[in-house]
Amino acid sequence: MTSDASGPIPPATCVLVSGGSRGLGLAIVTDALARGAKVATFARTVTPELEKLAAEHPDDVHVGSVDVTDAGAVATFVREAAAHLGPIDALVNNAAVGQDSLHIHTSPERIADIVTTNLTAPLLLTRAVLRHIMAKGSRGRVVMVTSVCAQRGYSGLVAYAATKGGLEAAARTLAREMHGRVYVNCVAPGFFASEMSSVLGTSELDTITRRTPSGRLVEPENIVPVVRTLLFEDTNINGQVLTVDGGSSI
Ligand SMILES: NC(=O)c1ccc[n+]([C@@H]2O[C@H](COP(=O)([O-])OP(=O)(O)OC[C@H]3O[C@@H](n4cnc5c(N)ncnc54)[C@H](OP(=O)(O)O)[C@@H]3O)[C@@H](O)[C@H]2O)c1
Repeated sequence: MTSDASGPIPPATCVLVSGGSRGLGLAIVTDALARGAKVATFARTVTPELEKLAAEHPDDVHVGSVDVTDAGAVATFVREAAAHLGPIDALVNNAAVGQDSLHIHTSPERIADIVTTNLTAPLLLTRAVLRHIMAKGSRGRVVMVTSVCAQRGYSGLVAYAATKGGLEAAARTLAREMHGRVYVNCVAPGFFASEMSSVLGTSELDTITRRTPSGRLVEPENIVPVVRTLLFEDTNINGQVLTVDGGSSI
């Protein structure tokens, strides 16, 4: 890799994905691996699916049990992953917690937890990975997984939406700060089935589907190619939010 900040950024060779144990994160990990990249990922619980991937690809996958809110543990994970896999040149900030409570009924502690996990922690993880990229004199790519609720209102998601909007604002500013040396973008999914969205009942999902012009809910398989493009293709997309929601937010 070159430290020259002009010209295309090479495809990612080693991607750190936060929250890769299940759901969208696991789909991104699996896809990046299939694309030929090395992958480091962590979650609080290492699932059997992740253990299997690590066992099948011992030289290409680094897995850890880390709480993203523990800055010391995250820094150690970045160091150990790079020692195992080689320099990290891409980050997907995917780990997050959801919300399903009106703001007036959400405790101050819960609000703080959502903000710490979904906003402060990804900012610190991004800082750690960018410092690693800078120290190597290389270039890289950062993808923030945000949400359509950063742009449109949905009841029960006030603190969550604030964190996702915060990440989108940070991504734009960071893209400018990194001055072409690192591309920073967001992928904003609409609702898709996962442990996080399992709080939604059938009637809520039916309503979302009815309001979605494409007539179907988003699936991780729809989001993964967009993340893949931002990690591996020469698109010159920088500082943007790419929404994958079947048009529900238009
Ligand atoms: N599902 C949706 O409808 C939807 C819509 C728009 C955007 N999104 C976004 O898409 C991303 C993936 O969501 P998902 O639906 O796939 O969620 P999910 O199934 O709940 O997965 C979340 C992942 O993050 C990890 N995680 C959560 N808290 C963590 C912590 N403190 N430390 C480390 N890891 C942590 C989880 O593992 P552990 O719990 O074991 O730590 C898990 O691996 C999130 O950024 C979410 O906000 C989701």
